[in-house]
Amino acid sequence: MKAWILEKQAKINERPLKLTEVPTPHAKDGEIRIKILVCGVCRTDIHIAEGDLSLRKTPLILGHEIVGIVDDVGNNVKQFKVGDKAGVSWLNRTCGKCKYCLSGKENYCPDIKSTGWDEDGGYAEYITVLENVALPLNDIRLEPSDIAPLMCPGIAGYAAFKLTKARKGSKLGLYGFGPTAFCVLKVAKSMDIEVYVSTRSPKNIEDAINQGADWAADTAKEQMPCTLGSAIVFPPAGNLVEPVLSQVEKGGTVVLAPVSSSPIVIENYTENLWGRTIETLYNLKKSEADEFLEIADRLKIKPERRIFPFEDLQDVLITVRHGKAKVANSVIKISD
Ligand SMILES: NC(=O)c1ccc[n+]([C@@H]2O[C@H](COP(=O)([O-])OP(=O)(O)OC[C@H]3O[C@@H](n4cnc5c(N)ncnc54)[C@H](OP(=O)(O)O)[C@@H]3O)[C@@H](O)[C@H]2O)c1
Ligand SMILES: [Zn+2]
Ligand SMILES: [Zn+2]
Repeated sequence: MKAWILEKQAKINERPLKLTEVPTPHAKDGEIRIKILVCGVCRTDIHIAEGDLSLRKTPLILGHEIVGIVDDVGNNVKQFKVGDKAGVSWLNRTCGKCKYCLSGKENYCPDIKSTGWDEDGGYAEYITVLENVALPLNDIRLEPSDIAPLMCPGIAGYAAFKLTKARKGSKLGLYGFGPTAFCVLKVAKSMDIEVYVSTRSPKNIEDAINQGADWAADTAKEQMPCTLGSAIVFPPAGNLVEPVLSQVEKGGTVVLAPVSSSPIVIENYTENLWGRTIETLYNLKKSEADEFLEIADRLKIKPERRIFPFEDLQDVLITVRHGKAKVANSVIKISD
């Protein structure tokens, strides 16, 4: 099969990916093989390619926003059959035996494996994956290219949103307005939660208002009009944490979404931290992925996206790396 492979990490401008022929994988026991239709581009792909995250296998096929059609099933597969629509997200495998796996908190499994990092991902014609992590998509009526961007920012945003414990009528703050915050905004508004967005770029402020935010501005320049019940911080900017905590009422929760962050300093514990809870988003759960996809289908959540041919992947990564993408999500079309 054709696949883009990464053998050696390098700056994305040096074009570290190669489009080449590799052996087509076969479905082993408990696995399905998916003929990939589309795979969405995530910034994490660039972090792996450039070496911000270690290279855990080589050669490696990147990509973890995968939508396709099951074209082969291994022995003992019960939930999928050939012809089913299926997806694969960042969650690729957990041990199934540890205390976390046994209590529905597999996101904390010490043996968790990620798609397109520990295992080959979606910038290829086929992928094999255990059926118990594959996401069933037969009931999702959105187009594959609309589903792909939901697979990482969508699921992660939903997981972060659940950690806020926001309820109908409460006030939720979103700091940063990228693809992840967009999905949270849509879910929160459908639950009659008031949403206050802080983001710097005028385009993001305008987008947030157009997408239904109750208020949007750059809080470095303009004070939020009220205190918040809870908030999510998306950018990896540790300096935002104390101001956000100070904006959240006692008993409220601040969720930190990034996978890494600049240092977080709390100077005034008593005023700004005392009485609030900090949560961090740590990997994703299969149950949250299933829940979110059902909600996204019901609400017809369609993140802004542009489709590119398979051959253009490397150019797309360069564009995304330099913040030059014209729309928030790029999706690579792999087959019809
Ligand atoms: N924990 C997990 O398992 C997991 C999984 C997936 C994603 N994530 C995290 O979720 C976050 C959101 O990802 P995303 O792709 O949706 O968005 P993103 O593009 O990483 O950034 C979100 C927004 O934050 C704002 N921003 C960036 N740097 C900033 C800074 N220094 N100060 C203030 N605002 C800043 C930007 O808007 P403005 O320029 O308009 O301010 C941007 O649109 C990322 O940090 C990612 O690592 C975590
Ligand atoms: Zn991702
Ligand atoms: Zn485990």
